[in-house]
Amino acid sequence: MNTQRIIAEIADEVSQCTKCRLSETRTLAVPGEGSVTARIMFVGEGPGQREDESGRPFVGQAGKLLNQLLEQAGITREDVFITNIVKCRPPQNRVPLADEVIACNDYLMAQIASIEPKFICPLGGASLNTLLGPELKISKVRCQVFRKSGILYVPLYHPAAALHRGALRETLFEDISKLKELIERDIREDEITDLSPPLEKSTFTVSSGKIQKGEEPRLF
Ligand code: URA
Ligand code: SF4
Repeated sequence: MNTQRIIAEIADEVSQCTKCRLSETRTLAVPGEGSVTARIMFVGEGPGQREDESGRPFVGQAGKLLNQLLEQAGITREDVFITNIVKCRPPQNRVPLADEVIACNDYLMAQIASIEPKFICPLGGASLNTLLGPELKISKVRCQVFRKSGILYVPLYHPAAALHRGALRETLFEDISKLKELIERDIREDEITDLSPPLEKSTFTVSSGKIQKGEEPRLF
């Protein structure tokens, strides 16, 4: 099956999914969108109100800032694939709960496996912790390059964080410039923190509260 078909099938399944409680309060599920041949994938936390109403990722205030960041990096939304760790809006935009992240993880893993991006940018702590492990702090590792299962990860602050904390806005613009520079050149081995083979299982058990003991998502 080609990538387009697989991505469409995932979106179809997501739109009807009732695997977790978020299905009870959503208007529309938000599978994600963009190029199925994308070199870069952005993974946010979860849909907000505008996303829930439209079924599209990052179309609200945080999305506007993401668009500006992409523009500065010379990237268009059509060049990338944009999705979230949970595909349905958490009520009041609360952080997704561990069991919701786990329930939704297969969709994200299937999207990554079929698109095979060269780079993934987790946006914010919840996405970072889901994709690379709960011990990592976004403020510490933002803009660093990690490698896992052959994919390079460059975590960035979540654009919504800059809406709440204005000082982060400048940091995000600096970081997206760094990302642009990274994606345009060969990255040296000494710049990469290798997470393959995956971290020991035990290191996933202490949590920031989002991923609880024994409940780590099935990481690949
Ligand atoms: N915030 C997210 O994390 N994802 C969206 O799609 C929109 C806002
Ligand atoms: Fe299904 Fe994910 Fe929506 Fe939960 S958040 S209902 S697992 S698509």
